[in-house]
Amino acid sequence: MKLTKTFAVLACTSALAAPAIADEVEVLHWWTSGGEAAAVSVLKSDLEGKGTGWVDMAVAGGGGDAAMTTLRARVTAGDPPTAAQMLGMTVREWADEGFLGNLNDVAAAEGWDDVIPPAVQAFGKYDGNWVAAPVNMHRPHWVWGSAKIFSELGLEMPSTWDEFFAAADKIQEAGYVAVAQGGQAWQEATVWEAVVLGISPDLYRTAIIEADDAALRSEGIVESFEIMRKIRGYVDPNFAGRDWNLATAMVINGEAGMQIMGDWAKGEVIAAGLTPGVEVLCDVAPGTQGSFLFNTDFFAMFDVGDDKQMAQQNMAASAMSVNFQETFNLAKGSIPARTDVPGDKFDVCAQKSMADLAEATASNTLFGSLAHGHGQPAAIQAAYTDVVTQHFNSDMSAEDAAAALADAVMAAK
Ligand code: GAL
Repeated sequence: MKLTKTFAVLACTSALAAPAIADEVEVLHWWTSGGEAAAVSVLKSDLEGKGTGWVDMAVAGGGGDAAMTTLRARVTAGDPPTAAQMLGMTVREWADEGFLGNLNDVAAAEGWDDVIPPAVQAFGKYDGNWVAAPVNMHRPHWVWGSAKIFSELGLEMPSTWDEFFAAADKIQEAGYVAVAQGGQAWQEATVWEAVVLGISPDLYRTAIIEADDAALRSEGIVESFEIMRKIRGYVDPNFAGRDWNLATAMVINGEAGMQIMGDWAKGEVIAAGLTPGVEVLCDVAPGTQGSFLFNTDFFAMFDVGDDKQMAQQNMAASAMSVNFQETFNLAKGSIPARTDVPGDKFDVCAQKSMADLAEATASNTLFGSLAHGHGQPAAIQAAYTDVVTQHFNSDMSAEDAAAALADAVMAAK
C-alpha cells in the first residue's frame, strides 16, 4: 500500500525543460506496429531533444500481455526498467505493491489536476498521489471500413448490427473478406465489449464494471454471444494468430471490408500515408453512439535509484506537455489525455471522439475498457477474456457461454 519513494522537489520547471545533465531512460513498451512505432519515435525524439537519452525495450504483442510478462520478470529479477507503459488497472497493481515513484511535484508544476479528466486521474493517482503520466485516451469500439469496397458496392457504414451483417453479406458476395479479425484473445475481447456496450450502456455497467452475477446471466449477455457467433461467420479461415495490425492492413489494402478494433488501427492508416475518414472510413461500433469506452496508456516510473530521478521527471514532463500530446496523438490514433489540446489538427474520427467523450461524460456513459485494462483487475479481466475466446473458437452455445462467463467471473472475484 505504500509508495516506496518520493521524488525530491526539483529546482523549477525550467530545469525540466533544459536539464543540465545528460541522462537516459530505459522504456519498456509494446508499441511495435507501424503506427505505434511512429508514435513512440515522437516521444523518443522529444526527450532526446531535451538531453535525455532513450534506451528502447520494446516487447511485441498487441494489447501488452507479453510486455507485462516481461515487466514482471524484470522486476522480480531486481532489474526494473526506468519507465514502463501500462494500462490503468496495472498502474494500480504496481502502485499497490509499492514499486512506483511519486510524480506529485512534476504534476503540480505542470497542473495535471486541472487538465486531466477525473476518469483518467482515477487510474493515474494512487492514494491521492500521481504515480503515472497519462499520454492519451484510446477508444476501442470502432468499425473501420475500406472506402474502396464501400463505394464500389454502394454501402454505408453500419449503425446497427442488422446493417453490419447486411453489409458483410454484400462484401462477402463480392469476393472480399467481410470482417478482418486477428486471432488473439484480447482482440476477441475487444469486439465482445463493443457488442455489450452496443446492446446497452447499462448492460456494460452491470455485467462488466459491476461484474454482477444476474447481469452476466441475463438475456443481454446471451444476445452478445449470439452476435459474436454471427461475426465469426464473416471472418476468413486464416485468422488464427493474426496480429491486429495485419487485420488493419487488410482493410487498408482493400482486401477486407471492415475491422472492429480500437483507434490504434487509425495509427496504421496514418502511418500508411492515408487519411482516416477518407480512404479508411470510421464509425463507432453498432449501438455505441453516445457512449464511450476508454483506455489510457500511462508511463509509470520505477524506483531505480536517485540518479535517474531527473531523467524520469523529464520524461513525465515531456509526455504531458500540450505540444507533445498533440504530436503524439496525431500519430497514435488516440485523443490527448489533456483536455486543453486544440482539436483542429485532428482527423474527423478523432474529432468525433472528442465530441463523444464530452457527451458520454455528461450522460454518465463513459466507462473503462475491460479488454484494455480499465474495467476489472487483471485476474477478473482474464476470466472474461477466457470465456469470450473459448466461445468464439468453438461451437459453444450463447446460453452456455453466458453461464460459463458468470461462473468464471464469480470464481475470480
Ligand atoms: C492497447 C494500447 C494501445 C495499443 C493497443 C494495441 O492496449 O492501449 O496503445 O497499442 O493496445 O497494441
